[in-house]
Amino acid sequence: MQKVFIKSYGCQMNVYDAQRMADALAPNGYVETKTIEDAELVVLNTCHIREKAADKVYSELGRIRRMKRDRKAEGLSMQVVVAGCVAQAEGAEILRREPAVDLVIGPQSYHRLPEMLQAAQLKPVVDTEFPVEDKFSALPDPSQASIKNRGVTAFVTVQEGCDKFCTFCVVPYTRGAELSRPLDAVLTEIRKLAAGGVREVTLLGQNVNAWHGLDAHGTSLPFETLLQQVAQLEGIERIRYMTSHPRDMTAALINAHREIPELMPYLHLPVQSGSDRILDTMNRQHSRDDYFAIIEQMRAIRPDVALSSDFIVGFPGESERDFLDTMDLISRVGYAAAYSFKYSPRPGTPAADLDNQVPEQAKDERLAALQALIAAQQTAFNQATVGRTIPVLVEKAGRKPGQMAGKSPYLQAVQIDDAKARIGDIVEVNVTGLGTNSLYARELS
Ligand code: SAH
Ligand code: SF4
Ligand code: F3S
Repeated sequence: MQKVFIKSYGCQMNVYDAQRMADALAPNGYVETKTIEDAELVVLNTCHIREKAADKVYSELGRIRRMKRDRKAEGLSMQVVVAGCVAQAEGAEILRREPAVDLVIGPQSYHRLPEMLQAAQLKPVVDTEFPVEDKFSALPDPSQASIKNRGVTAFVTVQEGCDKFCTFCVVPYTRGAELSRPLDAVLTEIRKLAAGGVREVTLLGQNVNAWHGLDAHGTSLPFETLLQQVAQLEGIERIRYMTSHPRDMTAALINAHREIPELMPYLHLPVQSGSDRILDTMNRQHSRDDYFAIIEQMRAIRPDVALSSDFIVGFPGESERDFLDTMDLISRVGYAAAYSFKYSPRPGTPAADLDNQVPEQAKDERLAALQALIAAQQTAFNQATVGRTIPVLVEKAGRKPGQMAGKSPYLQAVQIDDAKARIGDIVEVNVTGLGTNSLYARELS
């Protein structure tokens, strides 16, 4: 038995990939450990989206190099793998900068991980091909025990890659072209998860709503059909999906939110900017009015829907006026939560070469103002839940004895006092108060 330590950075797709890497290694006798010091195999599953994320990898690798040296002094070995989007983007450069690395493996090659580790025993290996075979169909299934271990909620990647080429973004280069997994492959995977106790699935994709997988007859299906089919599966009671692109938010998909009760009324729909001029140079291919129209239709169909988004401040050429348009969009939409970032120029992307880069100080100021507005909206949203009755999916024991912890439809953490409910139950609770990071609630019997 050997121990593997996997650390993921970046998006949920990396979290899912980390599980699939663990599944790929399990037949070779690897078990996961949460302490890096015990590990014979260390995998850093990296993210390249912003400069800071990529830099983190090298500082972590420095620490791992010293650990590997100390282990060697004790006669113990350690193999070091860099996986994920930095691996894909930088390839052999990683070996040059950090000789402690044994294997650099891109996100499309995880099914070859055991074989590559073997090869890397002899000399360092770089595998950043985009292989013709589909990694998902070649990856082994998780065992029922590991499904149970991972809990009652699960991520399932259904679509990968991106053809949209927003001018700031590395994803089309690190994850490759858009690929949708076939309907049956997704359903089979979710059936197994449900049999292992999973009650909630989040379907993942860089552009998940662009999914157009094939059915058994080779017919391409729209995303709402996938949602309908997943909703039919025994045991699956909640469905979420992310990340959606506004351009693929069709009327049929919006309508699915009326027809599928399992779909949670919470939509992550990144808009990045509220300025038409900036949206245009970002190559988002929609206007702010298009975005407002989607939100309006969504709210007409599901009045209880809440929204979250991603924002970038300080994109090249963003004026104070453009930024105020973003603030105005946020005020008009009203979000339950949002992620926001300072624009980070990424090598190889078109926006990195624009000469009207925004000074760091302006980026800092805009980010602070935007985050203050979002924080106020988030607090107001959470506050509005107090006193309401909501369904909670119980995920684990709570912080204090007698408490159970779970999630609201809006992904709010909820602590249920004196709970009778068990893990995997969905219970109606009355929200009694608001803490710093969670809601407090009483179970209704
Ligand atoms: N496919 C999703 C986003 C994937 S990347 C979409 O189209 O919205 C996740 C988020 O990281 C993006 O929404 C964006 O807000 C942010 N991001 C991507 N590239 C960035 C960059 N160069 N600088 C700062 N933020 C960036
Ligand atoms: Fe990146 Fe744009 Fe593709 Fe999203 S849609 S992954 S932001 S290129
Ligand atoms: Fe990062 Fe790659 Fe995800 S760049 S955000 S890990 S797709």
